[in-house]
Order: sequence, then structure tokens, then C-alpha cells
Amino acid sequence: MFSRLQYSGCASAGYYFHSDSYKKVVGVSKLRFGVIGINGIGKYHIRRVMEDERVELAALVDVNEESLRAVASELNVSGFLDYRDLLDADAVDAVSIATPHHLHAEIGLACLKAGVHIYLEKPFANRLSEVDAMLAEAAFRKLKICVGHQYRLHQSPQTMKYIIDSGELGRVMQVLWTWAEFRPESYYERDAWRRNWHTAGGGLLMNQASHDLDLICWMFGRPAAVSAEVMTQLHDMALDDAFSASIVFEDGALATLQMSINRPRAFSIRHVAGDRGILVMPDVRSLTGDERDLIRVGLYEDRLTTLNVKLPGPHMQPGIEWRTISDSGHRRLHEKLLRPARLWRKLGVLKQQKKTTGLPILLRSFVDAVLTDGEPLVSGTSARAAVELINGILLSAVRKKPVQFPVDAAEYDELFEELCTGASRIRGAR
Ligand SMILES: NC(=O)c1ccc[n+]([C@@H]2O[C@H](COP(=O)([O-])OP(=O)(O)OC[C@H]3O[C@@H](n4cnc5c(N)ncnc54)[C@H](O)[C@@H]3O)[C@@H](O)[C@H]2O)c1
Repeated sequence: MFSRLQYSGCASAGYYFHSDSYKKVVGVSKLRFGVIGINGIGKYHIRRVMEDERVELAALVDVNEESLRAVASELNVSGFLDYRDLLDADAVDAVSIATPHHLHAEIGLACLKAGVHIYLEKPFANRLSEVDAMLAEAAFRKLKICVGHQYRLHQSPQTMKYIIDSGELGRVMQVLWTWAEFRPESYYERDAWRRNWHTAGGGLLMNQASHDLDLICWMFGRPAAVSAEVMTQLHDMALDDAFSASIVFEDGALATLQMSINRPRAFSIRHVAGDRGILVMPDVRSLTGDERDLIRVGLYEDRLTTLNVKLPGPHMQPGIEWRTISDSGHRRLHEKLLRPARLWRKLGVLKQQKKTTGLPILLRSFVDAVLTDGEPLVSGTSARAAVELINGILLSAVRKKPVQFPVDAAEYDELFEELCTGASRIRGAR
């Protein structure tokens, strides 16, 4: 078995590119980009990278030789079976990493050490200590990290965040957040890496819920403490498929979370209650069709701090004036918030996108950040919070205690080792 793949059809470049091969016709260097892990979401990375005129898809990496050979020769790019050979070849300036979770830190850190900027699929890593190692390396070498939490760019989270940040709801005091989508056993049978601690780092929490947990930290700031229950209720595995958590945020907001892959996607809800008003989403679409999410905002007749001392009757309720954020209002706001995306669409850069959400925008912002020494829309620093929260939830549930933040990364490393060996188990684990 060879570790580097020769591809056919590009005689000049051999199995890696030399500097001259990435000069654009107009004389401007293109960013040499590699995609590591090409069969799942990596396919979309490849497509999006190829749409960006500032970027040259320079190399692909995958351990699946058959598909690597097929895609590399179809696209006429270098193919590597081992990411270390890609780095030794000095063939890329930036990569996206779309491999199973446990490889994020290993490959991410190796790329950073080789001077390569990284776009990492979510979760950032399985353990906080791994995240911190990557952040330190990136800071030391002045390299960019972008993490694939593209839900932040979806329409309804953008609208929610805008309303919260505008202060319209006042000081956020309570959050109720649920999320559910069914995953049958076949999901785990298809990809064995998803069903064990060592490779997946967790079930629902690390995989599906990491998106919403990222949104929660992005919207409500740093958690101060968490108490949680994590369970395996339905699936034949040792990993979590349901959890509930209570979080106190540093600024005093109290959140209750319920998430599960044991019921169908329907009627996930979000309530955000401040001291001036409340935001309600009664049926969150999440992954798809989120532009149709209904968002209602109710504003109280006055601040609760005032009404608290002013309302004469002991059971009187504050008056609320409700409004619904319409689809078009929603869309207008979103387009305004993501003006660059609108521009890119106009310029034909976001070609196949009917709506301006997600991965293409995030990937583009990563390229921008690399080229202009700016910040990607989801920086590594900002994505750290979701891993810290996930590790904190697991520590709380397995050790049966409230966990204070900052989470002790070494304490979680110890627990993770026990979960991997089976010395510790979550409730209901098979
Ligand atoms: N942002 C999102 O919404 C989103 C959506 C889907 C997946 N993801 C994330 O993307 C990552 C990949 O998920 P997926 O569903 O595409 O998984 P997958 O199993 O379908 O694909 C993983 C790919 O990585 C390759 N691979 C495995 N080990 C490798 C190695 N050592 N070197 C190079 N390649 C290797 C596999 O052969 C495969 O092609 C996960 O972290 C997942 O959480 C994110």
C-alpha cells in the first residue's frame, strides 16, 4: 500500500504542488487548500473550496484509498493517504479537517505545527485540553482556526442573537431550550466510529447537540456552573442519547436544556425571557428550513424591576404586546447582518445557494481571515466554549455534582479515560 497517491492527468505537478503551480494568471498567489476527510461533509468542503476564486484546491487526504483515487483523479489534484505526507510535502497553506472527532486534535495540531491554517469541523475536539493545545499553538504561530459551527450563520439564530444583543428583551434571566431529532441504530451501524467514546468523544452531546451548545454560549456568554443528567435511554451503545442540564451564566441568566435523539424532530422550543420582554420559538426547524422558524417577541409594559414594585394586585400580570417576526422581516434582517454573503451572492460566488446560510459563508470567512489576518466568523477562541460546556455537562452527570467554570481540563481528561476504558459509565449505558 502506498502512502501517497500519484494522480493521472496533471503531469507538471507530480504528487504535490511546487510554488509556481499556484500563481494565478494575474500574478496573485492563490491560497493552496487541502481537504482532509473527503467522503462525508468533506465533499461539501471540496465543492465550496473550488468555488472560491482566491483558493486552489491543492490536495486531498483520506484513508479510503478507493474514493481518494477516484476523487483526486477526477479533480486533478494530489491525493495523500496520510496527512503527515501532505505536511511533509509542504503542499498547502490551509486545510479543512472533516474526519472523525478523535482525529481533529491530532491532525489539527500537526497542521498548526507545520504552519498550516485550519478549518476544523465541529466538534472542535473531544477534550478541552486538546482545544487548548491547538489554541496555544495557533496563537504562538499566528495561524487561524475556524470551527464548523455554521448554525451561527443560519437565519433564525442570527435573528435571535440580534434581538438579544439589541437589548430589546432587557437583561436575560431565563432560557428554556430543547432540541430533538431521531437517529436510528442504522446511523451508528453505518459509521462505527460514532458509537464509542474514544473516537466519537460522546454521542448526542459531541455530535448533534454541539451545534446548539455553541449557539447557547454564543448568545448567552460564559457559563458559571452546570448541573446535568446524561443518559443512554434507547440506543445499544455506551454513549449518551439524551441529556438535561441547568446552567447558570456569569451574568446571572438561568438556562434549562433538554436534548435527545430519541424522538422525532418536532416542536423543539426556545424561550428567552429578559426583564423587558420574552422571545419564543415554538417549533425550531434547526437544520433545514430554518428561515421558516416562527419567532415571537413579547414586550412587557415596563421593566420588571419597575413592575415588581408598581403592580398593586398580588396576582397581577405585566401586560405584554406581542409581535411576530415575519419571514420577510426575518430575511431582511438576516441579509443585513450577513451583508458580505449578499455581496458574494450578487457576485455569483455563492452560486448554488438559494439562501445565505452556513458552510459556504463560514469557509469563505476563514479564507478571508487567512488572507487579511482577520478573524473567521467562528474563531477557535469563540468555539472553545462549547467543548468546555460539553465536558462540564459530562463531568457533572458522571461525577454527580455541580461543576463550576472554568472546567478543570485535567479532571475531564481523567474522566474521559475512564469512559473510554469502561471504568466509568453514564446512566443506562449498554
Ligand atoms: N458542521 C456540520 O454541520 C457537520 C455535518 C456533518 C459532519 N460534521 C463533522 O464532520 C466530521 C466528519 O463527519 P462525517 O459525517 O463527514 O464523517 P464520515 O465518516 O462520513 O467521513 C469521515 C471521512 O474521514 C476519513 N478519514 C478517517 N480517518 C482518516 C484519517 N486518519 N485521515 C484522513 N481521512 C480520514 C474517512 O475515510 C471519511 O472519508 C465530524 O467531525 C462531524 O462531526 C459536521
